[in-house]
Amino acid sequence: MRRIIWILGLFLCVTIVTDNGLLADDSSSSANNIITTNTDGDIKRGANIYRRCRVCHHLTAQKPPLKGPNLAGLFSRKVGTDASFQLYSSALKTADFVWSAEKLDAWLKSPTAFLPGNKMAFSGIRKAEDRKDLIAFLKNATIPVDLKEDK
Ligand code: HEC
Repeated sequence: MRRIIWILGLFLCVTIVTDNGLLADDSSSSANNIITTNTDGDIKRGANIYRRCRVCHHLTAQKPPLKGPNLAGLFSRKVGTDASFQLYSSALKTADFVWSAEKLDAWLKSPTAFLPGNKMAFSGIRKAEDRKDLIAFLKNATIPVDLKEDK
């Protein structure tokens, strides 16, 4: 009798351990998925956040600029150099860097803190997650049209 109880006990232990093992595996793999999505940013969410920008910006160079420069080809473009936009502040004209995800993140967090004296009437996006998603959207949406057609 004792032996049976002992075997049952052992069986129970093994079951619990394997179950936990499986659970741990599941949760870690779904956590990984979430991390991957976060790193890349959620383009769909980003498109929604971009609504805050589109009163002032176009995403293609085919259209005349609005209140702000066109954002076509932004990643790899030097700051303050959309040739069709004549109203750059000297803050942007004299700045010297090429737009990257990191620069854009700092700009969108607080335009005034990043480039004091700029003329973009926009207070910034406080949530890092929102900026990440917006940048993911912009990376895709600002690819120049001729490059997109080549693909
Ligand atoms: C009220 C109008 C307005 C809104 C809203 C606005 N911008 Fe701007 N943006 C501007 C203006 C004007 C400039 C040029 C600023 C200067 O020269 O000082 C600018 C400049 C920029 C630049 C620099 C481009 C270059 O050629 O170097 C980027 C990038 C940018 N905006 C992105 C955004 C994004 C993304 C949003 C939305 C979160 C946004 N802007 C919202 C008006 C706006």
